[in-house]
Amino acid sequence: MHVTKPKLSWLEDPTVFAVNRLAAHSDHEFYSAKTGKNSLNQSLNGTWRVHLEPDIASQKLDFIKPDFDFGRFDYIQVPGHLQTQGFDGHKYVNTQYPWDGHEELRPPKLPKKNKIASYIKTFELDHALKDKPVHISFQGVATAFYVWLNGHFIGYSEDSFTPSNFDLTPYLVEGQNHLAVEVFKYSSASWIEDQDFWRLNGIFRDVFLYALPKAHLADIHVTANLDDDYETGIFELKATVTGQTDDNFLHARLLDPDKRVAFETKVPLTQTINLGQELSQVAPWSAELPNLYTLELTLEDKDGAVFEFVPEKVGFRRFEIQDGLMLLNGKRILFKGVNRHEFDPKLGRAITKEDMLWDIKFMKRHNINAVRTSHYPNQTLWYRLCDEYGIYLIDEANLESHGSWQKLGACEPSWNIPGNLPEWEPTCIDRANSMFERDKNHPSVLIWSLGNESYAGTDIAAMGDYLRHKDPTRVVHYEGVTWNREFDYITDIESRMYAKPHEIEEYLQNEPKKPYISCEYMHAMGNSVGGLDLYTKLEKYPHYQGGFIWDYIDQAIYQKLGDTTRLAYGGDFNDRPSDYEFCGDGLVFADRMISPKAQEVKHLYADIKIEPDETGVTLTNDGLFTNSADSYFTARVLQDGKVIFEKDYQLIVLPQESKHFDLELPLPETGEIIYEVQQHLAKDTAWAKAGFEINFGQTVIRQALPKFKAQGTPKVAMGDVNIGISGKNFEVLLSKDKGGLVSLKYSGQEFIMRTPQLLFWRPMTDNDRGCGHGFERAMWLGAGKFAKVVDLQVTPKEHAVEVSYTYELPLPKQVTVQVTYLVDGTGKVNVNAKYPGHPDLPSLPTFGLEFKLPAKYDNMTYYGRGPAENYLDRKLGARLGTFTTTAKDSVAPYLVPQETGNHCDVRALALTDDKDLGLTISTDKHAFSASLLPYSTMMLEEALHQDELPPMRFAWLRLMADQMGVGGDDSWGAPVHEAYWLKADKPLELNFTLEPLN
Ligand code: GAL
Ligand code: MG
Repeated sequence: MHVTKPKLSWLEDPTVFAVNRLAAHSDHEFYSAKTGKNSLNQSLNGTWRVHLEPDIASQKLDFIKPDFDFGRFDYIQVPGHLQTQGFDGHKYVNTQYPWDGHEELRPPKLPKKNKIASYIKTFELDHALKDKPVHISFQGVATAFYVWLNGHFIGYSEDSFTPSNFDLTPYLVEGQNHLAVEVFKYSSASWIEDQDFWRLNGIFRDVFLYALPKAHLADIHVTANLDDDYETGIFELKATVTGQTDDNFLHARLLDPDKRVAFETKVPLTQTINLGQELSQVAPWSAELPNLYTLELTLEDKDGAVFEFVPEKVGFRRFEIQDGLMLLNGKRILFKGVNRHEFDPKLGRAITKEDMLWDIKFMKRHNINAVRTSHYPNQTLWYRLCDEYGIYLIDEANLESHGSWQKLGACEPSWNIPGNLPEWEPTCIDRANSMFERDKNHPSVLIWSLGNESYAGTDIAAMGDYLRHKDPTRVVHYEGVTWNREFDYITDIESRMYAKPHEIEEYLQNEPKKPYISCEYMHAMGNSVGGLDLYTKLEKYPHYQGGFIWDYIDQAIYQKLGDTTRLAYGGDFNDRPSDYEFCGDGLVFADRMISPKAQEVKHLYADIKIEPDETGVTLTNDGLFTNSADSYFTARVLQDGKVIFEKDYQLIVLPQESKHFDLELPLPETGEIIYEVQQHLAKDTAWAKAGFEINFGQTVIRQALPKFKAQGTPKVAMGDVNIGISGKNFEVLLSKDKGGLVSLKYSGQEFIMRTPQLLFWRPMTDNDRGCGHGFERAMWLGAGKFAKVVDLQVTPKEHAVEVSYTYELPLPKQVTVQVTYLVDGTGKVNVNAKYPGHPDLPSLPTFGLEFKLPAKYDNMTYYGRGPAENYLDRKLGARLGTFTTTAKDSVAPYLVPQETGNHCDVRALALTDDKDLGLTISTDKHAFSASLLPYSTMMLEEALHQDELPPMRFAWLRLMADQMGVGGDDSWGAPVHEAYWLKADKPLELNFTLEPLN
């Protein structure tokens, strides 16, 4: 029934979510001619006019009138959010509702401060749309909106992330049409759109008009399945046709990936059309081989004149659960996934095609094969790209009521929605339906997700039943039952978030009934993603079918402060309450700079595992459908970090096969020898050029470190305060009262700005803050800074002088640390720092020395793990080699400054100025960890934003025996795994030799 009068009460009524809205339909494109041009669409994107009112009490509806003078209205870009265009303040909250503490509310009540945006767009119909029925499509409007055309009420809709289409036909006029849209920030829907994200609203996705030809394919439902032989394609088309069917025909043609006709038919047009055909030997679709067929649907009259043309991509694939395993085209599938919010630091969730292309290429380049559209249906283009590039999708309905059942981190469902409440069920089903109808034809969508973190009850169960009934070709996912196992039957998959590796393993080892995935794991907030391999190791269990890292991109927003622009997080816009930096958990930073965490993901998600050995290499292909023919392999031999041999090979390993290849690599007689094998793309792809490296593997064939030997005869000056040791072109001063090295001069150049400090602390990471690391390990914070010298020994040695300091640490237990400097006659300084171990102390964040050097020594070349920063529990994706970086480039700009720039397993490094003069540092005992940064540990510890850090005045070098891992199971309590701790009872030793370069 067509409603002609809008009611404000709909806003707060959960049972009203669509008034005059047209039935949801597939997202197929349609044209008036076969050329694919002459589209029946008219975009209304662009500049609109807008005016904001602070609340419902000040609502004015005069703007809906066609003669309204909107000269005083502001300009706004559509699609776009109000907040990103300065019309409303930004706000970031996680689980708590945005009005928490401001107003006491229970669903479905709305806050009084409910901003209203009145939008106006005037338009004239394009020629192609004239004299036809015309509908309008809003692809995404948050959170609820009313529409008028030329003063007539058109409709009302909720669900920010699926299209709302209305019929405009009766109210269109010749010439200027006056479209008025009233967008409310909050409606009852806000209670079920409580996702952990910036609370952005407005008309943020495309708006367009579309005209209907005399008959129109309103909906098409394509099923392209495989028969039990996984070769025979079963093609089905169900179409709903509106308009005049008599005397008209549908001509359907299915072209295979090589554009050969696989199926063709012409049938008289009827209101519903059912076509079906079996096709032998189809080329199936998968993320590995995204074979797409093209379905061409042409509507013609009896003379063959075309009036509608629909080109639709079709992927043949079969997805099913058999014996508790998810199978794609008959093979057990493994999701190497990420969660992805649509995000751009300037545009919020109104992301562009360029953003999407960037994202999908990033994913393909990092061996990511799956995305959960957390936590709402994405823009249609994203699904097209995933079909085309090959990415599996969990398509998630726009439903989250997190703050209603979880409070202060505890499950507290005393009141919660939607639960079993009948008044919320229809809107839940509607959300499932809008998603299903729009996205059903995309082969990339394998799984429907009923939403995120909405507890469990009959309403969500009904969504699941609905989708299962509508679509037997996919399965249903819902994680929320982990909080309410009574509703376990809702989900076809055992899906958990942030389950620890041992918890998952327990499930896998105890006769699992359902396939397992982690719909969220590896919380990539700040410096994180430590221990990812503990999860990928579970892949050996068939029921472990992968996981989705939380998450893909930081949600941080550009903020102009004076003449600088920074990436701001929650609270920076004086938004309160806020959950601050919790919005930044991405593998890429908000501006799409790739974070060092991606290095680990790329390696551990790669399909082909590469293990070189003395005789060659073993390749293990975890891929399901592709062999390695599209790759070539490069074997390299590194001698002391330098490449001395390199050769390309073609090595073929079949899907699911593991095979050894003899390579006969040279083995030099001296030095440390590393064999490395890299996998490269042999041909250009849509996402990377030929030569692109997909993965690598390394093995240290022989370990060797060059020996330190004292030489020459140093001159010694025993001062009252300083012990001076000098020789040709060098002088070293070791201070008795400053507790260490105060001068190191090579060729007159001073390197030591202040005495190097003992280091036990690392700037806390987000994960550290979340797990009480500070409280547990606080005593290490001052341990280096306030250590005091309790003994000093000077001992002459052969060709050298040894000065040894004993420090007592300011700890409740007595711990002494020794730092010994051995200076030889050539100016080499061998430093040895020893922590003896103590049974009764918390584990150490790190142990080493921090040097303050002149800023000009800001280039570092190292032989160790790189190129991106790495840590004890995140170094598998980092390779051994010789890399060059700078102090500034070593900073990963995490939203809150924290530990950064570490390189594990360093054997040697050189610090140089721009004239290539400087220092080398090497070890003959054991590899160490090192970083060169523009900031000290304490500076990083203190700052809350990158822009709070001072300009670079010094180069800060940290040399560490080791540093504990960074963790990543979650950022709210999970400790770093014990295997990656520096246990206090174990002695630690740092040994290195300083010498001049050149
Ligand atoms: C999950 C949630 C995500 C995000 C994440 C923490 O509980 O589903 O939306 O909040 O935790 O960053
Ligand atoms: Mg949440």
